[in-house]
Amino acid sequence: MNDQLNMNSGKTGDAVECLGMTFLSEDARRDHFLGLLAEKLKDPAFRSQEGFPQGTDEAILAMSDPPYYTACPNPFLEDFINHYGKPYDPSVKYSREPQTVDVTVGKTDALYKAHSYHTKVPHLAIVPSILHYTEPGDIVLDAFSGSGMTGVAAQWCGLASATFRHELEMDWKRQGKIAPKWGARHAVINDLSPAATFIGANYNIALDVERFSQAGRKLLDDLENDIGWMYETIHTDGKTKGRIEYTVWSEIFSCPHCSGEINFLDETLDEGTKRVQDDFSCPHCSAKLTKKKLEKLFETSVDPITGNVIRTSKRVPTRLCYEMGGKKYEKKLDALDLEVLKKIEELSLPTALPHERMMHAPEVSVVKTFGSDRGVD
Ligand SMILES: C[S@@+](CC[C@H](N)C(=O)[O-])C[C@H]1O[C@@H](n2cnc3c(N)ncnc32)[C@H](O)[C@@H]1O
Repeated sequence: MNDQLNMNSGKTGDAVECLGMTFLSEDARRDHFLGLLAEKLKDPAFRSQEGFPQGTDEAILAMSDPPYYTACPNPFLEDFINHYGKPYDPSVKYSREPQTVDVTVGKTDALYKAHSYHTKVPHLAIVPSILHYTEPGDIVLDAFSGSGMTGVAAQWCGLASATFRHELEMDWKRQGKIAPKWGARHAVINDLSPAATFIGANYNIALDVERFSQAGRKLLDDLENDIGWMYETIHTDGKTKGRIEYTVWSEIFSCPHCSGEINFLDETLDEGTKRVQDDFSCPHCSAKLTKKKLEKLFETSVDPITGNVIRTSKRVPTRLCYEMGGKKYEKKLDALDLEVLKKIEELSLPTALPHERMMHAPEVSVVKTFGSDRGVD
């Protein structure tokens, strides 16, 4: 649930308003409502709602930022509606023509890309509908909110730049429509998935931008110190360092005529078109081949966590795509790159690594026969 977000700065130490109450700081507001939520969680009737998360009180409280976001059905929703809602008044006529609007919006916007979610909708595709059907201060409900873009759109109606407003108003004028009323709407966003509500909450709740950016910078610096070396490669000039963006791995097959190993990508990739060719020759015996004629090769290894023997298709790193001085480059791996990969492979896994089977996943089968043609176990 997001509420009055643009009124509160989110800055630590600033006094804040929440549901008609004033608190000395965001921390004071959070403490007050966490106390109320802790009480609520002790109520068996509250916990017996269908679909209530199985998490402990401590886990739910640790994830929540009440009253805006609770990692369970939000008990403050009624207070929110009472505070911001207007009782239905039959004498006030509500009427809007159905709106047809082009919702084609690019997906390259920084806000859109801040967090991914399946079937995610760009907030700018939602804004025109909110502007058309509602007025500033109204409550917008999205009961299937996913990553919370309806909440972002509701806030955007009060934050849109002068240029955005002008372009939209000109567009509406051309369609014979009157200009919308700009100003934030309140949003109630809800989802069945705890991950979705967590993403949605973090998209929508006011935060201390300076503190967030300091913490983010520190996290990135720590990561750079810890694993930055894994992403370094030496450019083809033999001295300048580049930053690896991704590594292309190729499956290894066996030639049905001479049993020689075939690196699929090396033999089939057309460097000009970057497409793999359907027909090619075996690099060992020159037999004419297609992918269908090849036999896939497998490797077995011991899973370091479960101790199970696992079988996977044989793959080798074949190309590196990296960035250097703002330009993209591609190269075959050199001896140093292979050394780095070996060093990574030899690193031990963290002891606290969780190893519970993911829900619905079949039991991992221990490979007893090696002649099977099944894929990854
Ligand atoms: C199409 S997605 C919404 C994506 C969203 N428009 C966005 O921009 O991220 C639909 C959402 O509905 C949620 N959902 C499905 N059944 C639900 C239910 N019974 N109650 C609440 N949410 C549900 C799913 O978890 C999913 O996140």
